[in-house]
Amino acid sequence: MINKKKLWGKNEVHHTEDKIEQIKKDSVPEHIAIIMDGNGRWAKKRALPRIAGHHEGMKTVRKITRLANRLGVKTLTLYAFSTENWKRPKLEVDFLMKLPEEFLSTFLPELIDENVRVEMMGDRQQIPTHTLRAVDKARKDTEQNDGLILNFALNYGSRAEILDAVKCIMHDVKNGILKEDELNEEVFSRYLMTKHLNDPDLLIRTSGEIRLSNFMLWQLAYTEFWFSDVLWPDFNETHLLEAIESYQRRSRRFGGLQS
Ligand code: FPP
Repeated sequence: MINKKKLWGKNEVHHTEDKIEQIKKDSVPEHIAIIMDGNGRWAKKRALPRIAGHHEGMKTVRKITRLANRLGVKTLTLYAFSTENWKRPKLEVDFLMKLPEEFLSTFLPELIDENVRVEMMGDRQQIPTHTLRAVDKARKDTEQNDGLILNFALNYGSRAEILDAVKCIMHDVKNGILKEDELNEEVFSRYLMTKHLNDPDLLIRTSGEIRLSNFMLWQLAYTEFWFSDVLWPDFNETHLLEAIESYQRRSRRFGGLQS
């Protein structure tokens, strides 16, 4: 059971609870994907090192996960580290690779308790062993859970994912596992890291940047986008509810006409 007073101030509790009431329970986005941006700027504004922003951003992950789970969201995919993020200074990269451990060592019992299943997508090869150990433990300890899937995109890049899919398809065609004329969008999707997931219904990017940064390029074809100027460490329950409200006001036609 969530202790709302611990999470929010008293007035915020009322406000947030009112907003939760307003969400239509039958059309909550099943899969929300988030590009968590703005940690560095959040820290800079406070004359803190960039890693302080990432640390604060980790707390937002907890808040947003809890609310998404409470609302009945089925999958929350969070872009935690891209294949391009290795270009950052070593100190920052090392810190980012330690964050999953810190997050999971603090919150894994809570995630287990709340029936959340932890997953990860991305290229495991470059990820340090200590990071993988923490993530794999969380995956194992939560594999029986059937609530929210908390899917961390870690060392993830969409172009690399698509290229790998193409290579696997070529291999399978060559070896008679797949016939060339059997290949269609649905089959292609089964070669991606998200093969077991629905495509995101809602994409959120924080911090005012309006781009995809190599994130889920195939999967976002018909996703609704919501961009916010709020920096990720400042992103809170009210902002998520605003994004969902906006999503619920839209008419999704998937290229067809309004029914
Ligand atoms: C982008 O902000 C953010 C990242 C590259 C890292 C995101 C990671 C977290 C929010 C923490 C993840 C937590 C867990 C549990 C794994 P930026 O650094 O590019 O910000 P800037 O554009 O303001 O510099």
